[in-house]
Amino acid sequence: MRVILDTDPGIDDALAFLLLAASPEVTLEAITVTHGNTSVDKCARNALDIAELAGLLNVPIARGASEPLVKSLTVAEETHGDGGLGYAKLPTSSKSVDTKHAVDLIIELVHKYPHEITLLMIGPVTNLTLAIRKDPTIIPLIKNVVSMGGSIHFPGNATPSAEYNVFCDPHAYDLMLRTGFDLTIVPLDVTYQCIFQPRHIKALDGARSEIVKFIEDSTRFYMEFHDEYQKIDGCAINDPLAAALLVRPELCTYRDYYVTVELAGNHTTAKTTADHFYATGEKPNAKVAMGVDVDGFMEFFIQRVKTL
Ligand code: BDR
Ligand code: CA
Repeated sequence: MRVILDTDPGIDDALAFLLLAASPEVTLEAITVTHGNTSVDKCARNALDIAELAGLLNVPIARGASEPLVKSLTVAEETHGDGGLGYAKLPTSSKSVDTKHAVDLIIELVHKYPHEITLLMIGPVTNLTLAIRKDPTIIPLIKNVVSMGGSIHFPGNATPSAEYNVFCDPHAYDLMLRTGFDLTIVPLDVTYQCIFQPRHIKALDGARSEIVKFIEDSTRFYMEFHDEYQKIDGCAINDPLAAALLVRPELCTYRDYYVTVELAGNHTTAKTTADHFYATGEKPNAKVAMGVDVDGFMEFFIQRVKTL
């Protein structure tokens, strides 16, 4: 399957890189980078270095949007560290970002492989929405979109009601929801059940030592954040769950929902809502993961990473 990974690395984004690199079912056509967990420049640096660690050596990496469509930039360095990868320090890759902007690379690849590209969105969705604004003819040519984002019946992690990726660019998320994509959403309802703990690091015994060290050093910071701010023992690994669903969709159960984003609330800006009881009469616009086989996912992640 041909995939473009759109990402803001980010600790859990990095884990998604590792999982994708270990998944022969996936051909990564490009990694497109956005603002989000940190600035787009730091995210691009991280993407180059993580790709090298993961052995993704021939995948073009393109720098994308540096700010959201409407609101001003937010970053989450208390969650992911100043550099975006917690306590991890990776060797600096000698590779550079692609000469093309991420938006142009998305447009080019969708035209090159019509009806074949899956867009895996694990950050704010600014790049995708800029691409469809620049060239709306790509809309029917995109096979499907899988987005880690939103929170349906679960609290927010950016505000009491908003999930971070939607919070960073709610207007882009709203546009994505209204475009009519074949869209799968992987919200906090499922990702916050997937809590990665030191016992999972132990289970990585036998994996390449640089990879284990990277996972240890990055997630230690992430775990400290979850402990201090959210009283969670371990860390939620949101993005790799979305990546896993590309090859193991049966790890989740789904509901078709009409999903919207609050753009004007006082306390609920960027909250995603789902029409659970069909109150609006609107047709569903997304398939939303609402149940997850936690042990199955953790086992899948660990076994795959061990093959790298
Ligand atoms: C999402 O926000 C980011 O901090 C994570 O990388 C993930 O994509 C979880 O809300
Ligand atoms: Ca992310």
